[in-house]
Amino acid sequence: MLENLKPAPPDKILALMAQYREDPRENKLDLGVGVYKDEKGDTPIMRAIRVAEERLHEEQTTKSYVSVQGDKEFCQAMGEIVLGDAVPADRLRVCQTAGGSGALSVIALMLNRARVGATIWLSDPTWPNHLPLLSGAGLKPQSYPYYDSETGQIRFEAMLGSLRTAMAGDILLLHGCCHNPTGADLSLEQWQIIADLCKERGLLPFVDFAYLGFGDGLEKDAAGLRLLASQVPELVIAASCSKNFAVYRDRVGAALLVAANAGEADIGLSQLLSVTRSVYSMPPDHGAALVRMVLTDPQLRADWMAELEGMRQRMESLRRDFADALRRASNSSRFDFIANQKGMFSRLGLSPEQIDTLREEHGIYIVGDSRINIAGLPGDKLDELARAIVATST
Ligand code: LMR
Repeated sequence: MLENLKPAPPDKILALMAQYREDPRENKLDLGVGVYKDEKGDTPIMRAIRVAEERLHEEQTTKSYVSVQGDKEFCQAMGEIVLGDAVPADRLRVCQTAGGSGALSVIALMLNRARVGATIWLSDPTWPNHLPLLSGAGLKPQSYPYYDSETGQIRFEAMLGSLRTAMAGDILLLHGCCHNPTGADLSLEQWQIIADLCKERGLLPFVDFAYLGFGDGLEKDAAGLRLLASQVPELVIAASCSKNFAVYRDRVGAALLVAANAGEADIGLSQLLSVTRSVYSMPPDHGAALVRMVLTDPQLRADWMAELEGMRQRMESLRRDFADALRRASNSSRFDFIANQKGMFSRLGLSPEQIDTLREEHGIYIVGDSRINIAGLPGDKLDELARAIVATST
């Protein structure tokens, strides 16, 4: 039977990671996969997570199953950091998942049970894994215009124009903050217009929330999503702890479901758990236990918030310094948008050939759509990098 299979198309981010690993050059530079890096280029374990890990090692007496829903205290803490008090508790249900992608998957499969083959609207561009993940769950992807590469701005009117053709019952996928791959985020006014549009047209918002804390800070990054949540009757959210707790390989995330009333919320949760049971049975516990310990211990929580804020500020200042270096190298304002965008990613607007040249001639690894990981920028070599980029792109 297996001889019937054709090779799967490669994921461009994973393919680039593999290519980078195999490159023997010492001065190579990884601006590919979305993993936070410090000034030494390392991705350290966060201090609070390290302490929690030691405590867990001392305190844990069993590795027996927790439950399909996961750790209840973790779920409650995730509901709080994501939604604050934007929705009444009786309408909210939370389920622990295997990373943010696990949350996207179980929610998509659950939605496909609610409406088989429902249309899901994705921003153009979006994270490359959205398409296979959501269509694999049975949903039908459609795209809406989002980003203008020429100006580095959101094409908001075009986005609205496209979404006004959506039908009641369609799903609208939004990036909660730090849009991946563009770093171009909706303003609060735009979130309000989207909330009105969802209500008018009967669209279900589905928010991918993978970078909370990486844009303008924990509260501000959640403000648009909370505004939306406080106004629409229903909403689903895939939250990830991979980046903001730096627990990538431990696979920690949560699926959040806000329903019109408590009864529908219970039914929705029962479907989410039934999907989880049928896909991977139970979520992994280790990383979620660490996140739960950090969020529920005031000291650990304060230290985590301080470290996260330091990471955020580092990315923000790298953005400014890199935009300045590109301005010097290009003698133009062509790349100024980088300073104003949010989070881990921006797109340089280079062609695939130019990206190949940067990799082959300079060992600079950039995703094929010209997305760079801001945290990977070498703070002490920005001028050199900017000159290589400008020389390649003119
Ligand atoms: C990214 O966009 O680079 C990250 O979300 C990592 C991934 O799994 O693609």
